[in-house]
Amino acid sequence: MTTTAAAAVLAAIRERRSVRKYTAEPVGREELLAVLDAGRWAPSGKNNQPWRFLVVTAGDPRRETLAGLTTYRPIVASAGALIVVLLDKSVMYNQVKDHQSAGAVIQNMLLAAHAMGLGAVWLGEILNREPEVLAALGLSPAAYELMAVIALGRPAAAGASSRKPLEDLMLEPI
Ligand SMILES: Cc1cc2nc3c(=O)[nH]c(=O)nc-3n(C[C@H](O)[C@H](O)[C@H](O)COP(=O)(O)O)c2cc1C
Repeated sequence: MTTTAAAAVLAAIRERRSVRKYTAEPVGREELLAVLDAGRWAPSGKNNQPWRFLVVTAGDPRRETLAGLTTYRPIVASAGALIVVLLDKSVMYNQVKDHQSAGAVIQNMLLAAHAMGLGAVWLGEILNREPEVLAALGLSPAAYELMAVIALGRPAAAGASSRKPLEDLMLEPI
């Protein structure tokens, strides 16, 4: 990787923020495919790739159904697209590691969306309604475990957040 490419990756990691407000402009299929593909290249234990994706776009009536299953209704109801991230239980081999792999997928997708000028947010609260989410999507709870819903759209407002200083996170100084 060139110095410029490394700087771009580090900037994307540093500058990505959760975006929760979107314009009405749609998210294109090619953009969605690029975000999904970034997820596909995430690492996984034994390279088992246990993740499965389902996309709900703005015209899909399931968007409103999903919006009704979370306290973050306005985000879901206004998103240009939703990427539902699931684990295929038949492929899982270790609960902790498969969940960690799902996190890597989601972060890859968030970074890809940011790099492409899209806004996105990782929605976890909706996991409280996993049975209803799976039912709304016609998926069997015996076959799939819900990991998150990623809301995507064209940013209408910038996100803002902060982090603890690095020295507060280090158990020993380096
Ligand atoms: C596991 C997980 C669950 C999350 N669930 C939600 C959620 O349900 N609703 C929401 O608005 N943001 C959710 N977020 C986004 C966080 O609130 C956000 O990443 C954090 O506040 C830091 O902000 P930043 O992403 O802009 O840096 C979630 C993030 C993670 C990693």
